[in-house]
Amino acid sequence: MMEHISEHQSGELQEQGSSKAEQYQLLAEQLGSVFENESDFIANMANFSALIYHSLADLNWAGFYILRGDALILGPFQGQPACVRIPLGKGVCGTSAQRWETIRVDDVHQFPGHIACDSASQSEIVIPIIKEERLVGVLDLDSPILKRFDADDAAGLEALISIFMSLTIIPQQSTNAL
Ligand code: SME
Repeated sequence: MMEHISEHQSGELQEQGSSKAEQYQLLAEQLGSVFENESDFIANMANFSALIYHSLADLNWAGFYILRGDALILGPFQGQPACVRIPLGKGVCGTSAQRWETIRVDDVHQFPGHIACDSASQSEIVIPIIKEERLVGVLDLDSPILKRFDADDAAGLEALISIFMSLTIIPQQSTNAL
């Protein structure tokens, strides 16, 4: 059965002083339940987005961009409608996809070429999704507060993406060699 963490419960976890590492460990266990018996790429990206959007504090957008040719195309997400197509190398997402690196931005207004999909966004983190030496896409999280994402968030989200990759079948056309 899928477990659900409400924003209230998530807030309670923080009030009780659980560390970020503990919160991400709990999310990792919940992700395993959410993906139970399901390996579909679209369904798992959709539930991944919903789980983190409703569990992590201070987010205004959470979702996926998938590589198609030379551009990232909007995938399943939670939040306001967003830019549909981001060329490789453009914005935070395109830069992460080009470098194959997690990128944390404390203040998006200071990031050259940042693409503003939601004017509420102040800080951002993008994690590349790589399978067998091929880029699949990126996970993108936006926050309405500055400096929302630290190294613990990067490590926790990278671990969640590893679980996603291990339990999800990635269609061949969703990977591009670089
Ligand atoms: N800010 C991103 C664009 C995607 S939205 O934040 C959902 C970027 O600069 O790549």
